[in-house]
Formats: sequence, structure tokens, C-alpha cells
Amino acid sequence: MEDRLEYGRKKTIVVTGADRGLGLALVAEYLKGGNRVFAGKYRRNWHQLEELKEKYPGSLEIIELDVRSQESVEKAACAILEKTEAIDILINNAGVWLDHNTGTILDEEMDYDAIMEQINVNALGALRVTHALIHAVLKSFDQLVVNISSEAASMTDCKKDSQFGYCMSKAALNMASCLILNGIREKGGAVINLHPGWMQSVIGEPADCDAPYVEPAEPGEVKYYTTPEITARGFIRILEEPERFSGRLPGFVNYRGDKMNW
Ligand SMILES: NC(=O)c1ccc[n+]([C@@H]2O[C@H](COP(=O)([O-])OP(=O)(O)OC[C@H]3O[C@@H](n4cnc5c(N)ncnc54)[C@H](OP(=O)(O)O)[C@@H]3O)[C@@H](O)[C@H]2O)c1
Repeated sequence: MEDRLEYGRKKTIVVTGADRGLGLALVAEYLKGGNRVFAGKYRRNWHQLEELKEKYPGSLEIIELDVRSQESVEKAACAILEKTEAIDILINNAGVWLDHNTGTILDEEMDYDAIMEQINVNALGALRVTHALIHAVLKSFDQLVVNISSEAASMTDCKKDSQFGYCMSKAALNMASCLILNGIREKGGAVINLHPGWMQSVIGEPADCDAPYVEPAEPGEVKYYTTPEITARGFIRILEEPERFSGRLPGFVNYRGDKMNW
């Protein structure tokens, strides 16, 4: 706690998987707010981050990052730590959904490669990045690790009988959040899991369909369409006061601040 660096109202933020979707929207919103952002770039021949860099040359750093690779994570961490000693908010957003047309336990085929890949990106990726940057997080004012989770992680609300890879990877991510919190709580660190809602993005919508934005029918309803921009603004509001949503366990809430079931 003694090492914490006071930043006033401007924060230093790291976002993984920031080329598009929610990651890009979070980067854009935080830059708009005058913060300093390190954005993980993974996708080749995709230039939206570079366009933002032209607009915010002094505040945005684009960092090559493949969260599946320890080498890439270490290289990215070095590049970040060369430029900043402290990270207020680390947002583990990078994710994949590969469970297209996957079957149930009764089907003949099970795509173990896809399951392993999702666990590697969605769960281990967040762990690798957090491990590489945790000391810088603990030197900051906010000391906050954010894992972009999903309703798919919820055991209480699980109604699916397929999508093993995605659901198991997000449940593992939530468990990682608990373990990380237990390791950093005494130093003042905090962890929160956020569910974006059913978002219009590569992961969220079928390739041939423009998912419409639909207002939730009632507060607390968690399965509805939203957009990366709406979700990013909701998340940023929540991350201003993460302690409101957390206790002995990390918070687990959607972008409206509705509590999710573990
Ligand atoms: N959309 C939803 O409805 C929904 C619901 C619940 C949770 N989520 C979660 O929200 C987060 C953001 O997803 P999104 O909907 O914005 O989807 P998205 O547009 O596909 O964004 C995910 C980003 O992560 C990147 N990525 C993939 N593999 C990576 C790797 N190995 N290293 C670094 N980056 C990698 C993707 O790059 P490529 O585009 O090149 O793959 C993409 O830029 C994910 O964690 C997702 O699981 C989404």
C-alpha cells in the first residue's frame, strides 16, 4: 500500500484484445476521458487502433500482444513497464468463442482442440497477462484487475448442454479472479468480473445477422443485445466504484451493474 502512486483523476489502463469490439470501445472511451491507455494489438491488417493513435498520439500506446504466448506476454509487459511504473486498471478482455455447432455430451464428436484453445485464450491468457503486470497494478492508485467474463461462466444459471470450451474457460477465468483476489487483497488490490451482455460483435452475433439493440425487458435481465460502446460506458461507470460490487469474492456484474450469479 505504501508504494501506491497517486494519479489524481487520470488513470493508466491496459486493455488486451483491443483491435475491435469491446476492447476497442473501452480504449476509445478511456482516451476520450483523458486517460493513458496501453492497447493490446493482436489482429493483423486491422487499423482501428492506429486511427485512434492519430487522434490521441500522446495517450495511446499500441502493444503487440498474443495472450496465448508467454513470450509475447513477456515482451508486451516489458514494453509497457518501460513506459509506466504503475497500472491503475488491467482489463483482460481478449477472448474467443469457437463453439460453433458444438454438440452435447451425447454426440459422437467433441472438438477438444477448440476447447483447449478457448481455455488457453480466455482463462490462461488473462492469468499470463495478470501475472506479468500485477506488481505494476499494485503500485497504482486503483490497483484493479478486471476480467471480462460472461454469463456463460455462471454455474447457478447454466441452462446450456453444449459449448463446453467457452463455458468452461469463462468459469475457469472466474476462479482465477478469486485466486488473484486472495493473493492481492492484503496489499489493497481488487478484482472484478464483468459480463458485457449479449453484444453486437464478432463473438456476440451470428456472422450473417445485424443483432438489433434491445432494451432489457426488466432490470436484472441479463441476456439481451447491447453494443460494445454501450457496454464500455457501463463498465467504466462500474470501474469508478468497483468496491460497491465486491466483497469477500470478486464482484461479478453485468454492464448495468446487475449482480450475476456465480
Ligand atoms: N459479445 C458478447 O456477446 C460477449 C458476451 C459475453 C462475454 N464476451 C466477452 O467479451 C470480450 C470481448 O469480446 P467481443 O464481443 O468484443 O469480441 P471480439 O470483437 O471478437 O473481441 C475479442 C478480441 O480479442 C482478440 N483476441 C483473440 N485471440 C487473442 C489472443 N490470442 N491474444 C490477444 N487478443 C486476442 C480478438 O482478435 P480477433 O478479432 O483477431 O480474433 C478481438 O480483437 C471477450 O472476452 C468475450 O468472451 C462477449
